[in-house]
Amino acid sequence: MSFDFMGKGVLVTGAAAGIGLATARAFAEAGAAVMLTDVNGARLREAHGELARRGLKVFLCGGDVRERGDTRTMVDQTVQHCGQLDVLVNNAGIYPNRLVLEMGEEEWDRVMDTNAKGTFLMSQRGAAQMVRQGRGGKIINLASGAAESGRRGAAHYCASKAAIVMLTRVLALELAPHKINVNAVSPGFIDVGPHQSVSEEYRRAITGGIPWGRAGTPDDIAQAILFLASAEAEFITGTVLRVDGGSSAGRWNLPVS
Ligand code: NAI
Repeated sequence: MSFDFMGKGVLVTGAAAGIGLATARAFAEAGAAVMLTDVNGARLREAHGELARRGLKVFLCGGDVRERGDTRTMVDQTVQHCGQLDVLVNNAGIYPNRLVLEMGEEEWDRVMDTNAKGTFLMSQRGAAQMVRQGRGGKIINLASGAAESGRRGAAHYCASKAAIVMLTRVLALELAPHKINVNAVSPGFIDVGPHQSVSEEYRRAITGGIPWGRAGTPDDIAQAILFLASAEAEFITGTVLRVDGGSSAGRWNLPVS
């Protein structure tokens, strides 16, 4: 399916790398004006430069989704440069690994603040802007298979993604009267390149559990996000769309008998 976002203003958090960058690129290629935001300024400038050199309508704004003041700036800058905020993609997220017995309070807070609170703060700011505009809107949150399936070393991550799923549902209820769709995409394992902090052993094991026979790509997720943000998905709200090559469909690793 090819999507048309001509004339739309899109804000993507965590857009300097991985899924966020692929999503920003896909929206811009579909005609949108896209605000790339990220806490990593150097990587953000690099990502923005890469897309701008290809003639895409992209802008950048540094910002930390954990900081209320930054969320305001990111939304305001989007309106200033893109004309309005039609689509907000809450993609920024971190996934360090540590067993509960070894986990410091600081790490728990960092994961919850970035993934869960960041999604809350951005959604609150973005939704307020969309309500003011009075033309509806789309909010897409990044959940994860970790919201439903526990994994050793990921208590904070799993909890933060489960929080995002429920936040998505409640926001969908609260914002439906304003014709703002709120949905989540739940990726399985997505290969985002060498900066991804997983061992080769983990990568092999998790890829072996994917019925489709390969890891996902950032573009697999970007296309699902564009679908949920499209006019065609107008009646879809409060859902979690799994994009995982069948990983969550059942127990793939069991023999037939
Ligand atoms: P990534 O690490 O490649 O990119 C994440 C970006 O978010 C980075 O550029 C980082 O600087 C930025 N970021 C981190 N903290 C931030 C903050 N406080 N404020 C603003 N920006 C911040 O990550 P990836 O793999 O592309 O993941 C993107 C999202 O997809 C995350 O929410 C992640 O939990 C989710 N996801 C990823 C999966 C995967 O296998 N890669 C699987 C399931 C979900």
